[in-house]
Order: sequence, then C-alpha cells, then structure tokens
Amino acid sequence: MKLSFLFLCATISIAYGELHDGRFTVPLDHFRPQDGRTVDFNYRTNIQYYQDDGPLFFYINDAGHFTTEWIERGLIKDLAMEFGGALFTTDFRFFRNNLPTPTASLANLQFLTVDQAIADIAVFITTAREHVSSDGGKAFVFGTGIGGSLAVLARQKYPHLIDAAWSSNGVFLPSVFTTDVYNTVADNIREVGSTECGERVTRAFQQIEDLIATGNDQTLVDEFGICRPFNISSRMDVAMFSEGIVEQISSQFERFHHSGLTSFCESMSVIPADPMRSLGRWIRFNFNVDVGTCQNYDYEGRIRLTSDTQWNNPGTSSGLRQFLYLQCTQMGNLRTNTNGGMFGRRITEEYRQRLCMDSFGDGYDFDELYKTVEIMKMAHGGQNPRVSRVFYTNGYLDQWLSTGITYTYHEDAHVVNVPGYSRWSDLTSLNTLDSIVLYNAKTSVVSAFRRWNSD
Ligand SMILES: *[C@@H]1O[C@H](CO)[C@@H](O)[C@H](O)[C@H]1NC(C)=O
Repeated sequence: MKLSFLFLCATISIAYGELHDGRFTVPLDHFRPQDGRTVDFNYRTNIQYYQDDGPLFFYINDAGHFTTEWIERGLIKDLAMEFGGALFTTDFRFFRNNLPTPTASLANLQFLTVDQAIADIAVFITTAREHVSSDGGKAFVFGTGIGGSLAVLARQKYPHLIDAAWSSNGVFLPSVFTTDVYNTVADNIREVGSTECGERVTRAFQQIEDLIATGNDQTLVDEFGICRPFNISSRMDVAMFSEGIVEQISSQFERFHHSGLTSFCESMSVIPADPMRSLGRWIRFNFNVDVGTCQNYDYEGRIRLTSDTQWNNPGTSSGLRQFLYLQCTQMGNLRTNTNGGMFGRRITEEYRQRLCMDSFGDGYDFDELYKTVEIMKMAHGGQNPRVSRVFYTNGYLDQWLSTGITYTYHEDAHVVNVPGYSRWSDLTSLNTLDSIVLYNAKTSVVSAFRRWNSD
C-alpha cells in the first residue's frame, strides 16, 4: 500500500553495533495524579562516544515516523563525538512498540495528546540521565516536523531539564483547516520550477476534472495506475485521489529537494500537448505502477484501515489511525484546496471532516477540534512560543513552511532559512557538496550548540 503518507519509511534497524535498548516508565495519564497506572516504553541509545558528564542529545521522532538514523550519523552525532556525548531516541506513545493500552479504541486514544507526549520526554530525559549516571551533562533535544515542534515545546515546558533545542522544519501553527500547505507546494512549482510548469500542472488537474465530469474512470485508472475498486462518482474517492497526487508530488520534493522539483517539471513537459498524460507517466514511473503495483484511492478501504482498533493490524502498526487521531482531536492542520488553484478543488473540508468522523465513529465530535486548536495556540504560543536557547532551521521547499517559525525576535532564539531544500537536509553531517546556504545553516547550528554546551 503506497498511500501511507507520513509512514513510508517507518522501519527500524535491529539494535546492533553501538546501539543499546533501554526502558523508561511513564504514567499512562500524566495529568491525573490519582490514576496509578504506569506503562513501560522503549528507547534506543548510542553511547559509544560518551564520556562522564558529556552532553545528552535526544532525537524526538516525528509522530509515527520512527528512525534511529539521527543518533547513528549526521550533524548531532558529529557533535556527540566532539563533546563526548550520548545520543538517545524513542518513539511516540501509541506508535510502534510504545503501546500503553490494550487496543486503539477511541476511549483508549484519549491518552494520546501532545501534552502527554511532552511529559513523556521529561521522564525519558530524567531516566536516560540516570542510566548514564550523569549529573552535570547538558541535555539537548532536536527533531524535525512534529519532532521539531515537540523539542521546542518540551524546552518551553521543562527548561530546568532541557538546556537547548533545535527544530528543523517544525510545525507550530495549529488550525482546523489550512489551504496554505498545498498553496506552498503550488508556489514552489511556479517559482522554483517555472511559470510554464505551474500552468501545465494546473491544466493537468483541469483535464482530470473533465474526466470526472464525464464519468470516464477507465482513462483515469489507466493513466494513474489506480487500484480497483475506485468509484469516480464518489466525492470521497476523488478527494483521496487528488490528495494522493499532490502528496506524491510533494514527497519527491521532500526526498530530492531542488532536483526533485526540477526533474518533476521536466517530466511535466514530456508530452507538451497533454499535461495530464505527462503527470500520469511521471506518477507511474516514480511510484512503481509500471512494475505492477497500483495506487489505492478506495475511501471505504481507507476507513477500514483507520477505524481498526486492534494493534498489529496495518492501520495501527503503520500509525495511520493514531496520527489521524492527533490531527482530528488536537493538531488539526487538515489540508484542503477548496480555494481552487493549481490542484483543483477536490480536497474539501467535507472530505477531511468525514475522514475523522468515519474513522472514530460515535463518541467523536469534530466540533471539539475548533476549541482544542485554540487551546493549543494559547497554551504553547503557536508561532511565537517565546523559548530561548533554541534554533529554528527551515528548508524552504517544505510544504509545511507556513506553519513554521521563520523569524523570531526572542532572546537567544535563532532562525536560519534554507532555500532550495525541503526538510531533513540539515540533519546530515557537514558536507562540502552542500550548497553554501545549507553548509552555513549547519555551521550556525553547530556553533550554537558549542556555545550552549560551554555556557
Ligand atoms: C459510487 O458512488 C456514488 C456516489 O457516492 C454512489 O451512489 C454509488 O452507489 C457508488 N457506486 C459503487 C459501485 O459503489
């Protein structure tokens, strides 16, 4: 199944070589002192460079996207080598092997909140410090995407435990719906690609619209390698299809940055008279449709995945249901394109709302989201969290840029924006092949950590 947007790479390497496993115990509910239930969570650590009272670095995973990569290599691992530091990471509660409840029922998911996750980080840091018997070593947190946001929010809430934070393309501004995200993708295509490229994509989506109007599903299925069942008369299937195409386009920018965008725009002009066929050809080539897989846009099938409450089934082991729960109850930022524009107008508020309601069923109230989004903003400050000793880097090709922190006047808070790259790029080691802006961004991050470590 190709459509698990944020979870394509949710794999884990065996703990071998320098990695060690550990466990820490957290309350199931951090905010009800008389609820005595606790759960054990797993973490992974790299202590091969550790020297007494060296700094402790914590990579905060993006929700549902577990990786140990950034405690094994990259810019912060290089810092750990330099300082005699230890590196740690853990998965989010309710994802992968940190499952605190017997099922993922709606009632059990009540313990999956941003604030519970931040409180887990505090316990994690305290436990990790005990495990390496560290008294004086500084504690630093870093992450990307939601991991970046949580790193900053953890420092905001627990400054006595966390000395500094680095957010690479964090997401900070919650809203119920947002059209900004897909507009950012469209702007990148027009401005970093070309005006003609933007026009071709716009035209391709108009051609798709014509097929939908005439109910010509066979052409759509063939061109885009769609799996059956696919119901072209269903607004929900069509919305999922539109979303899938936009996500496939932006995922290439995320993986290949500027060159992903350039090669996409080159592909869009391969069949000049027929942008839709150019787009279809690009999708089939890049997402392996030509070698026999297909793209699943069956809404009912998707709902079966996201409403499954048993662990170890595809909808829960991929984290799809849990991530949707976070979006539908607290984080929002449900991406729509109802204002028209490059990608048509099919990814509607109705579609987003129904995904939430059909997945969580009776007992779930979409309207509560309007309130919780406001509370999130109030409690954490949105794009102005007023946190000091923090670094924000932003790859300017990231589709979530509009929700990030791209300027700050706060004391000892720093922003570096990196054109030509999406997220992840600045987590890697300094490399002379990096563009000058990327190299400088990484150097600034390293300098800040050096200063914070010696303060
Ligand atoms: C396709 O969707 C339409 C509109 O929702 C619905 O009326 C129709 O029954 C669906 N067809 C199939 C085969 O599911």
